[in-house]
Amino acid sequence: MRARLEAMYKQAQEELKKVESISELEGMRHKFLGRRGVLAQEMKQLKTVAPHERPVVGKLANELKEMLSSEFSKRFEELKQLKSRGEEGRLFDVTLPGKKTRLGKLHPVTETIQLIEEIFGELGFKSVCGPEIETEYYNFDALGLTEDHPARDEQDSFYIDKGILLRTQTSPVQIRIMEKEKPPIRIIASGKCFRRDATDASHTSMFHQVEGLLVDKRVTFGDLKGVLEVFAKRMFGSEVRMRFRPDFFPFTEPSADASISCIMCGGAGCSSCGGSGWMEILGAGMVDPEVFKKVNYDPEKYTGFAFGMGVERIAMLKYGISDIRLFLENDMRFLSQF
Ligand code: PHE
Repeated sequence: MRARLEAMYKQAQEELKKVESISELEGMRHKFLGRRGVLAQEMKQLKTVAPHERPVVGKLANELKEMLSSEFSKRFEELKQLKSRGEEGRLFDVTLPGKKTRLGKLHPVTETIQLIEEIFGELGFKSVCGPEIETEYYNFDALGLTEDHPARDEQDSFYIDKGILLRTQTSPVQIRIMEKEKPPIRIIASGKCFRRDATDASHTSMFHQVEGLLVDKRVTFGDLKGVLEVFAKRMFGSEVRMRFRPDFFPFTEPSADASISCIMCGGAGCSSCGGSGWMEILGAGMVDPEVFKKVNYDPEKYTGFAFGMGVERIAMLKYGISDIRLFLENDMRFLSQF
C-alpha cells in the first residue's frame, strides 16, 4: 500500500504539471482528493495492513494528502493569475504560426454558368430552371424526338421508371416555359444533364448545359447570329470570330453548329483545334414550327430561336483544360486555380 500511495503521489504531480485551466484543476482535485477519489479509496484499504504498520502507513497517507492539497492550491493561484491576465489555457509557445483558414470559393463550372447568365442577362434573358428528373414527353417527344427517331440513340439515358428519366438536355425547359407563358419569351435555363456515355477526356455521365430560347414576332436567323456573337466575344475575347455550319436538331429548323476561331492559334490551325482553326461551342437553330404547335403557339405569328451549350466544354475552352474529369475530382490543386 505504501508503494501504491507513492505511485499515486507521483502520478498526481505529473498530471498537475500539464493542467492548463482552473476547471481541469478542479477535476483533478476531485479525482485524487475527492470523497470517492483515489486517496479515499486507498484509505479504505488501511484495515488490510498489518496492525503494527497501520500508524506508519496512515501517517504517510496523511502527509501525502497535505502535500498534494498544498500543491493543488499553489497551482490554483498560478492559474488564477494567468486567467486574470487572460492567458489561461495559453501555456504554449505563442510565437508558433497559427492555423491557416482556407477560404472557400465557387466551383469553376458554377462560375462559368454565372458568367453565361450574366452575359445573357444583359441582353434581356431571364434565368429559369426546370426539373432534372423529366418525363419522356418533355425530354424527347415534345421536342420532335419521337420514340423511333434515330437522334434519340445519341442521348441514351438513365431511366427512373417507365417514361421517367434523368433529363439528357436542358431543352425540355423550353417546352415547360412555353406551356406556361405567352410570347415574347427570352429565357436562359441552366443545370445538370445526364447521359449514358462512357467516361473519357470529353465525356462524363453528368454534365451541365445552358439553354437559350427567344420567341417573338419577326425573329430571324440574323438575330440568333447577332446574339451568339455578342456572347462569344464577351466570353472569349473581342478578337474572336464566329462560324455557323448547317447541323440537325429535331426541334430546330434550320439548325446550325456554331464555332469560334481557335483561342489558342487565332484561326491559323494548331493541335488544340485539330488544325482546323475553329472550335465548336454550341448547337442552335430556329424553333421548329412543330414545337410551337405542341405548346399552342401560332407558327404563322411567332418565330424564335434556341441554342444550347455544354458548360464544361465552354469552361475547358476558356481556361485551356484538357480533361473534363478534372471538374469532378475535387482536387484542390486544380480547383484553386480558378
Ligand atoms: N439540346 C441540344 C443537345 O443537347 C442542343 C441544342 C439546344 C440545339 C437548343 C439547338 C437548340 O444536343
